[in-house]
Amino acid sequence: MEFNLFAPRLLRVGGGKVAELAALLATLGLSRPLLVTDPFMVGSGLVRRCLDPLARAGIEVAVFSDTVPEPTDTVVRAGVRLLGAHAFDCLIGFGGGSPIDTAKAMAILASSDRPLRACKVPYAADRAALPVITIPTTAGTGSEVTRFTVITDTECDEKMLIAGLGALPLAAIVDYELTLSVPARTTADTGLDSLTHALEAWVSCRANPYSDAQALAAMALIGANLRTAFHEPANAAAREAMALGATLAGLAFGNASVALVHGMSRPIGAHFHVPHGLSNAMLLPVATRFALATARGHYAEAARRIGFAAPADDDETASGRLADGLVALNVELGVPSPRAYGIDAAAWEAKLELMAEQALASGSPANNPRVPDKAEIIALYQRVWAVNT
Ligand SMILES: NC(=O)c1ccc[n+]([C@@H]2O[C@H](COP(=O)([O-])OP(=O)(O)OC[C@H]3O[C@@H](n4cnc5c(N)ncnc54)[C@H](O)[C@@H]3O)[C@@H](O)[C@H]2O)c1
Ligand SMILES: [Fe+2]
Repeated sequence: MEFNLFAPRLLRVGGGKVAELAALLATLGLSRPLLVTDPFMVGSGLVRRCLDPLARAGIEVAVFSDTVPEPTDTVVRAGVRLLGAHAFDCLIGFGGGSPIDTAKAMAILASSDRPLRACKVPYAADRAALPVITIPTTAGTGSEVTRFTVITDTECDEKMLIAGLGALPLAAIVDYELTLSVPARTTADTGLDSLTHALEAWVSCRANPYSDAQALAAMALIGANLRTAFHEPANAAAREAMALGATLAGLAFGNASVALVHGMSRPIGAHFHVPHGLSNAMLLPVATRFALATARGHYAEAARRIGFAAPADDDETASGRLADGLVALNVELGVPSPRAYGIDAAAWEAKLELMAEQALASGSPANNPRVPDKAEIIALYQRVWAVNT
């Protein structure tokens, strides 16, 4: 067995740990940060959790808060223009996956003359102009620990996957207290994204012993706590478990890659502006059923870890419970079908060919236990459309 292991140099995990931001920068020898965040973090005052400890330590910080959900190349370029004006020595990505991915893409774009479009996979985006520290406020994308950033090319509505060491954060602070204010809908969407990461890493043909360990731990944490975090937003124990679960899921797929669900999800996000976790959730039951018989033992173990199946259930029973459990979870967490979300039937049909081509081109479906061809991906999109919610 041969594999590479990718992870940030340092992870600081725990409630209230964001208060140690200045000390963390000092440990890393950094002192001139640009904080990259979104307007909500500033408007809600959540950004003070970062700014106050820096101010107390006498560290001057500039703030770029123009990031948008599902970030675009336009926003990344605007951020890079700001970089040129000052001698920053690091970026702090503070927020959900969108500000974190924006910070990573800024660091990559500023490292060369290469346009972002030319940095998407299979290009290895290994250079960054400056290191990125990540502080997630959702649980979550796992972006705080991955070597990936996902940026929309606004010219052709493509969600580009950019991968390489340039996108790997130097350090991360995972403080669940920052997630207590996440609204129920976003808790569900981001939590289902994490669950998808763990499950896809677990069944990925690029899995290794390290990613397997992270994926199994993440599935147990998320399976036991996602519903509670959704129904009881102030439940600190559930939020803490979800924050850890999301980060471990990030370490899992950061080292094993994602698979079919993510490959098919990015085009839905790009063309129909569905939040990332939600488009994953729409696909997860159908895509799982598609591959169930190919990797029954793995899917059965996933069902046991998540809590859909009992430890004594045989593989046939447990894997069946996984498919059924994912459907029931979507119903409980209010995940709509594409139609119920408001997507126009003709527009969906018209994009099927292109979405299938973009899904395949991303490379992610090739990691799936059962690898579909273009016609099968189109059929899967059609099956997702027919889901009755
Ligand atoms: N790089 C990776 O490895 C990776 C992996 C998965 C997803 N992604 C990307 O991450 C992005 C999605 O990130 P996300 O799902 O975290 O959503 P997001 O960052 O877009 O945030 C969603 C919404 O939640 C709000 N929010 C965030 N934290 C909050 C808090 N603590 N309290 C209240 N509101 C809060 C935000 O302001 C925003 O309105 C997508 O672009 C997706 O493609 C990246
Ligand atoms: Fe994801």
